[in-house]
Amino acid sequence: MTVSVDMGTAPDGAPAVMDLEELLATRLLVQGNSGSGKSHLLRRLLEGSAPWVQQVIVDPEGDFVTLSDRYGHVVVDGGAHSENELKRLALRIREQRVSVVLSLESLDVEGQMRAAATFIGTLFDAPREHWFPALVVVDEAQLFAPAVAGEVSDEVRRLSLGAMTNLMCRGRKRGMAGVIATQRLAKLAKNVAAEASNFLMGRTFLDIDMARAADLLGLERRQAEQFRDLARGHFIALGPAVSRRPLPIKIGAVETSARSASPKLMPLPNAPDDEARAALFERPAELDLPLPAAPPPPPRPSMEQLLRSIEAPTPAEETRNRPEPTTEERDAVVAACLAEIIADEGESFRPAAVLFQDFGVRCRMRGVSDSGLDLAAFRTRLSLARAGLYAGINEDDPMADAAREAELLPEDARGVFLLIARAALERAPCPSDAEIARVYGTHSTGRAKRLLSFLEGQGAIVIRIDLRGGRAIALPTLGWTTAVSERAPTDA
Ligand SMILES: Nc1ncnc2c1ncn2[C@@H]1O[C@H](COP(=O)(O)OP(=O)(O)O)[C@@H](O)[C@H]1O
Ligand SMILES: [Mg+2]
Repeated sequence: MTVSVDMGTAPDGAPAVMDLEELLATRLLVQGNSGSGKSHLLRRLLEGSAPWVQQVIVDPEGDFVTLSDRYGHVVVDGGAHSENELKRLALRIREQRVSVVLSLESLDVEGQMRAAATFIGTLFDAPREHWFPALVVVDEAQLFAPAVAGEVSDEVRRLSLGAMTNLMCRGRKRGMAGVIATQRLAKLAKNVAAEASNFLMGRTFLDIDMARAADLLGLERRQAEQFRDLARGHFIALGPAVSRRPLPIKIGAVETSARSASPKLMPLPNAPDDEARAALFERPAELDLPLPAAPPPPPRPSMEQLLRSIEAPTPAEETRNRPEPTTEERDAVVAACLAEIIADEGESFRPAAVLFQDFGVRCRMRGVSDSGLDLAAFRTRLSLARAGLYAGINEDDPMADAAREAELLPEDARGVFLLIARAALERAPCPSDAEIARVYGTHSTGRAKRLLSFLEGQGAIVIRIDLRGGRAIALPTLGWTTAVSERAPTDA
């Protein structure tokens, strides 16, 4: 019995399906310019195959961490672990067959390459008894297998390229099936691309990429021209796991979202139309191909258990005999750890799902094994902490209303909303652009301004500038307004 993943629709309206077993044997290359819909496509494939096969996602942008809530993927922040820890995590993951998202967004390019090489290399070297089938998905693969030497050191490039080559050329025997996506085929090392037998080709602007694509797929140059005009979400599929002839397909909808987008990534105004159209073509569930019952999911240890299992043996007795902290002690530790996380955050906004693990580790290091917060509660506390409210708020505090309003906004906008709400509640002057930028996790006051415009567009705030250039911000849903800032918001 074969297991297929429904990827979307073919021109005749029939479902376009990917044969999972064939895919495991023959690998996949996805190419398309930025914005063509590659990550969306990978997400569709991952969601559709999650019940069937272990997944390892190398995620340079932290896009896929949202798979964790719904499908139980463990999120590993590549920047938060030493190389040895990453190795041990990779071995555990292979052994226990957990699906994992390796988020590399907190690292610079060289760090990303090193972490990916370590992780993939260790998966590859896992003992034979752990060679279970797994999809190993690498988004933006040209970063890890660059065609030419870049700014990074030769050593790192060799490591990373070696790991990617092993994955694509020799992974199969070990159960590892490479699925790689790239925005620039010409920038991807040839030997890595050449090992895929399945292709999904999206919009391609540059002649040099087009020429490479034609070569790779064995198409006439003229046939490859069709990649130039593809719309977002449209791909030409070819290969034993999907179609023996080039088949145009429109990738279907996904269940989880890319992690909450910053304003510049908000859907374009025409997105609802696209969605409405997509909904029209959605096939009713009862038409779905009959599939065998999903195998029982392998037991999934939590990230916490994994981390614990890789930690060097601790002076266990001492830890165990330590008295349980009182509620007050625990609350103080939670507040202190939140403050540390915010202080360490610097310029990079990191999603709550990633910070949550960091938070858990920090709490345990201070003797609090259970912070009392689940991910949802942590998200709220994180937004409050970004607004300077490290100790959280009581239900009867008026700020609790503001926190509820904030929940309706994208995750990275909540802290700023709460900062403004707090100023408004205290009748304090409107925060400056620099303060807003700091809470937003950036040095750029331009980004802070764009966030404010976004919030205004959402109806969450109303900005008023007086004749002297002083700014006040009203929160219409709460009926609160900040005092006018003394000076123009830019020269704080
Ligand atoms: N098939 C699709 N249906 C609906 N929206 C899509 C589809 N493909 C992409 N999108 C949307 O278009 C935007 C860009 O897609 P993305 O997958 O991030 O592109 P890429 O990874 O190629 O840069 C995202 O907002 C995504 O949600
Ligand atoms: Mg992408």
